[in-house]
Amino acid sequence: MTEEAIATLDQARQAFGEEVSLSEPVAGSPPLWIEPASDKMRSDIGALTGWMDGHHEEIEQALLGFGAIVWRGFPLAETDQFERMMGGFQPFALGYAGGTSDRKSIKGQVMEATRTPSDIYIQLHQEMSYMPSSPRALALWCRQPSETGGETVICDMRGVLEELPDALRRKITDCGVQYVRNMMSEDPDDWRSGPDFRHPNWQYRFETEDRDDVSSQLKERGASFEWHDDGSLSFWTSRPGTLTHPITGEELFFNQLNSQAQNRWTTSEEAAARMDAAYGETVRRPYTVRWGNGDPLLDEEFLAIRDLFERRKRAFAWRAGDVMLLENKLTGHGRHAFTGERDVQVMIFG
Ligand SMILES: [Fe+2]
Repeated sequence: MTEEAIATLDQARQAFGEEVSLSEPVAGSPPLWIEPASDKMRSDIGALTGWMDGHHEEIEQALLGFGAIVWRGFPLAETDQFERMMGGFQPFALGYAGGTSDRKSIKGQVMEATRTPSDIYIQLHQEMSYMPSSPRALALWCRQPSETGGETVICDMRGVLEELPDALRRKITDCGVQYVRNMMSEDPDDWRSGPDFRHPNWQYRFETEDRDDVSSQLKERGASFEWHDDGSLSFWTSRPGTLTHPITGEELFFNQLNSQAQNRWTTSEEAAARMDAAYGETVRRPYTVRWGNGDPLLDEEFLAIRDLFERRKRAFAWRAGDVMLLENKLTGHGRHAFTGERDVQVMIFG
């Protein structure tokens, strides 16, 4: 991996040459836009993959400088082509097993972006920042944009810590965050399996029926866990709330306090009330997030983080064929609610 960043449009133009046209819609903020500058690049997938192979180092440098890159106007119509385009990036070795989102593999290294219901706004987050090891980057490809909404929102994570209120920043830095997951054992007759709750089961999420296999996957990830008498599973990890970027040395916000909180702002008034009525105080809920010392996350703390992200976010409206590559620590992502069919596919890189 490279140490030097390409951080300005001039540097990027020099590095990427004449075959593409570059722009920066929001100066000093992700993403860098790359569009074809010739008919061949517009129509020939081989020209694009050849260009990708020939500029891999420079793409890595620009990813570090800009935090995200968008390719628009290139002829990507099939999953295979997306996979070939991104073939120069190492897949994330640990894959996605144990991740929070419900998603399945489509083909090779390519996965569905998420099965989170379309009416839910997925809050800004950095992928798997609740795990000891998380992807370095992820690529999203749009096969079909939604009818309305469905934008991917992104947020420049540089500067987030500095903009938080002092007391909250100190708490994030000093306490860290604890992520708790409770997965039931697969049972289609259990009320929690129904469409109102979609409580995750471990057989599905870990893609195995074998408890020992799940236990060793969790140990590998540094998670603590407990199997309950009814076959359900709880596991939790305590993680720092910030991270020093391994290449640039920047101190960054790196946690999912906002996106893993379950409250009326992250779901809806109705969904939160339904959840309270059904689960009450005794049934374990699918997720909990709290401070590393076990204290609950207060509403005003959640709202301070959420409001900061809302102020800083940029919404990216997809067109079919668009590809977005995100540096996972430097740029957060989320998804607006949508209507209609939406097909965005993802690859994660280590
Ligand atoms: Fe995500």
